[in-house]
Amino acid sequence: MEIESGEVSRMKILNFGSLNLDYVYQVEHFVQPGETLSALSQCVNCGGKGLNQSVALAKAGAKVYHAGCIGTGGERLARELSESGVDISCLVTVEDIQGNAMIQVDRRGENCILLFGGSNRAITPAMVKRVISRFEQGDYLVLQNEVSCIPEMVAEAKERGMKVVLNPSPFEVSLLNLDFDAISWLLVNEVEAEQISGQKDPDAAWQLLHERYPVLSMVVTLGKEGAVCYTPENKVRQEAYPSSAVDTTAAGDTFTGYFLTTLSQGMELQECMRRASMAASISVSRAGAAASIPKRQEVEEALA
Ligand code: RIB
Repeated sequence: MEIESGEVSRMKILNFGSLNLDYVYQVEHFVQPGETLSALSQCVNCGGKGLNQSVALAKAGAKVYHAGCIGTGGERLARELSESGVDISCLVTVEDIQGNAMIQVDRRGENCILLFGGSNRAITPAMVKRVISRFEQGDYLVLQNEVSCIPEMVAEAKERGMKVVLNPSPFEVSLLNLDFDAISWLLVNEVEAEQISGQKDPDAAWQLLHERYPVLSMVVTLGKEGAVCYTPENKVRQEAYPSSAVDTTAAGDTFTGYFLTTLSQGMELQECMRRASMAASISVSRAGAAASIPKRQEVEEALA
């Protein structure tokens, strides 16, 4: 799965991100300190914020390339991407154990997640340079925070003139050292908006970030309250579509994939938010991560 040489002129969206095997345990309640708890069921799913977002981008209709590392035991993750329509020519194989997550899902569909980076931490500066050199000015680079070399990716993409989209999840203080002038879009939840700006209220967070980084745009997802999108020119609000929660895993990733696909296709912001919101709401009503992401047609039918 080494990268082929040659031009990749039609590349539009590169997602340099994690691939995880999700070990999912259905539980009555999240296990407490000192407690031993029997799970109601167990399964192993394809996940990782990177993989989920690539699958959502592809299902929404984008041409997406996923770059990342397949480790020991992770072959099915490459298959899942490919079968979902994602280009996997930028994946490499490494000897580290596959990145994975232990996920508890409770009766309300809420989750808690323990991550192990494994192969996702095997990305090197040389790989970053090699992959990003195949993309062009105006292409998108989508990043989450589950892989190594994020600062190198931002720097390379800036030099290349790519639009960087950052979903700083899971948040770490070291992310504050990134070159935010090189970032076009920040996709965050309320908590991450506060962690990045120091402001609890999303409007105040936007005000501060906009003053510091005048070309930045931002979407804040607000769970049941919907989402709000800020650009230097506009503010667009979107209500959440109600659904009965089975499993909230990958709802944010689904929103990201649908929002970016429609944005890159030139749709109006309100329409991007509408589609992203409906896609996320459908994903919440289904179990699993990548498997819960709806196809574009399902989203359009639900909206119609
Ligand atoms: O966003 C959901 C994802 O977070 C899961 O699939 C898990 O792998 C973790 O990365």
